[in-house]
Amino acid sequence: MTSEFTVAEQAALTSGRDAWHTTPVESAGLPGVTVTDGPHGVRLQVDPRDILRGQPATCFPPAVATASTWDPGLLRRMGEALGDECRAMDVAVLLGPGINLKRSPLGGRNFEYFSEDPLIAGVLGAAWVDGLQSRHVGASLKHFAVNNQETDRLRVSADIDERTLRELYLSAFKRVVTQARPWTVMCSYNKINGVYASQNHWLLTEVLRGEWGFEGAVFSDWGAVADRVAAVAAGLDLTMPGPDDTGDAELAEAVAEGRLDPGLLARAAGRVRALVEKSAARTAGDYDQEEHHALAREIAGRAVVLLKNEAPQGDQQALLPLRAGADGPSVAVLGEFARTPRYQGGGSSQITPTRLDDALTEITAATDATVLFAPGYRVEEGPERDPAADEGDLVAEAAAIAQASDVALVFVGSTNETEGADRDGIDLPADHLRLVEAVAKVNPRTVVILSNGAVVATSPWDKAVPALIEGWLLGQAGGGALADVLFGRVNPSGRLAETIPLRIQDHPSYLDFPGEHGHVRYGEGLYVGYRGFDAREQEVAYPFGFGLSYTTFGYGQASASASAAGIEVRVPLTNTGGRDGREVVQVYVSLPGSKVSRARRELKAFVSVPVKAGETADVVLTIDRGDLAYWDTRVGRWVVEGGEYHCAVGASSRDLRTTAAVEVQGDDVRLPLTADSTLGEWFADPRGAQAVEQAFAALPGEDSGRMAALFANPTMMLFLSSTPLSRMATFPGSPLTAESIAKLVSAAND
Ligand code: BGC
Repeated sequence: MTSEFTVAEQAALTSGRDAWHTTPVESAGLPGVTVTDGPHGVRLQVDPRDILRGQPATCFPPAVATASTWDPGLLRRMGEALGDECRAMDVAVLLGPGINLKRSPLGGRNFEYFSEDPLIAGVLGAAWVDGLQSRHVGASLKHFAVNNQETDRLRVSADIDERTLRELYLSAFKRVVTQARPWTVMCSYNKINGVYASQNHWLLTEVLRGEWGFEGAVFSDWGAVADRVAAVAAGLDLTMPGPDDTGDAELAEAVAEGRLDPGLLARAAGRVRALVEKSAARTAGDYDQEEHHALAREIAGRAVVLLKNEAPQGDQQALLPLRAGADGPSVAVLGEFARTPRYQGGGSSQITPTRLDDALTEITAATDATVLFAPGYRVEEGPERDPAADEGDLVAEAAAIAQASDVALVFVGSTNETEGADRDGIDLPADHLRLVEAVAKVNPRTVVILSNGAVVATSPWDKAVPALIEGWLLGQAGGGALADVLFGRVNPSGRLAETIPLRIQDHPSYLDFPGEHGHVRYGEGLYVGYRGFDAREQEVAYPFGFGLSYTTFGYGQASASASAAGIEVRVPLTNTGGRDGREVVQVYVSLPGSKVSRARRELKAFVSVPVKAGETADVVLTIDRGDLAYWDTRVGRWVVEGGEYHCAVGASSRDLRTTAAVEVQGDDVRLPLTADSTLGEWFADPRGAQAVEQAFAALPGEDSGRMAALFANPTMMLFLSSTPLSRMATFPGSPLTAESIAKLVSAAND
């Protein structure tokens, strides 16, 4: 396809023209196209020297929030809207979604990622890609792969075993690549088991293209390529940012000197060219800023997670929602975040919003009752304040207003979350904590509203307040969305896509994050997030999947049936409360008695269902057979273990209401028996056991009797069960020889 391009032109095509464009090839009339961040808005930089100044675009809620909706339908609509904004700004590829797992709550970029669970990340990521690409704008699925920390992110080696890598960290990528076919994939900065992702032939060529059938272009993360020749040989197509004339020349030289197969360079250039040609289908477009703002508000409202909602002391009813009329409660709005919202994280995803709603204005507009405000603490980017006022004054002022009001809404959260740096703890800032404590002391009707990109500890201070809202970072329309939830215009249906631990020390990743001296060991293995907390039966503050509503739901008896396609689970779900609402029905699968190490339960299906008050919905959830498989390192493939699978259905990972058991036929994984197979393995295999028994029965009388006695002795059998046959032959008096073992091996395997 690119045969008419010279080697120099091919090399030039494999690096950018600049930071945000591919290189045009004028002789062929091939234009350069624009690629830009991503992922929760279009960050089209207007000044090349100022990364923070972009063309105004809708700042949708970042992934930490959208994940809490557990609703691929919403993510698809967001993708479509982003696609329309890209069309309006002549953008060919939007750099997202980011679907890496949140391995640790300390991850500096957790706000940009969806979940600690690969199913959520994969399903939501695929929906986002589908929506975007329906507008003929390409996605760039990132960061491939195992980029779960910011510490030393450009050099660190993520040291991880293959089963964990496949089942957890690659799983979401596989789902998005095979289901949504993103136009591009962005490789990560880090190394994986010592090899840079950008130079990793196994990752970029064998797995991504060979196993998953990816046909698009692989981009590098910005600055991720250490060696252009090695990268092209491994399967990387476009090195960013450009220009990189030196690297282009090195590629041409490597081809001339026979160090790089010219076909590999032609192939990489061909993929970049194909991308540019594909994007020609994109038509110019326009979008309605008000409509997109309304969509951002709808998504944000759906992302809010109600963590706690009790009746304050002396009251009969849960504190929320608040009444809005003139007879409603007077409200103290406290905390600078209510006026100066935290709505996105720092770094390459930072959007210049088209407008910005704040909770204070929205709450004031939502109620006819009195609303008073006090900042309670300072934030760096907040309005100028009286420098003479000290922090004690700020807290005292807030407490006085809280005491004089019927209800106190306290806005607190984390202050400094950005790409490039991990967090050093999960506690709220001390001045925010002091504000919560002071207000809770004087007003029993206190609601705490959190703004944070990664989990913050809620314990033990949440005991002192009857209501707690996890508001994450909600994008430009978050202020309105919070008012919608507080006053019941939106019935909260957000669910945690990550566990809130009691303490960071409890977290499965705690001892192995962020590593040192260039290596981070994924020591918790398969036990990421809730999988680890459940395996150790540890208490958590709020479990994975959890979130309250202003209504209640009752689950009927679940049923499950298996077919060649997988498992279908059905459950009747009734809205038993007085309000229309939405429940996120979750299915967690386990296989009691499994022969391989497994999480106690794993999320395998979920659906967000609207149900009117008093009505019942018949909810159907499907699990693909492939999603039941584990990666068997002995045979190097996916294997479904046969047995009775338990499908527990409920409202969170720790609120399982009904379970259906279903028998699933397993895949055949017969391993050939060898001289190095242990006696235990020989006896576990029916043909192996038969061969051994027959061989020993055929021995001369005395040996045969001795062996029969040995096999009849359970203690001896236990003692010998881990010994390979070849080693048994080395014991004095053993009737086994190399020759007889060879016969056994062929008898057992033929
Ligand atoms: C980030 C990517 C981003 C790229 C371009 C990198 O630092 O890791 O997520 O797309 O910059 O801004």
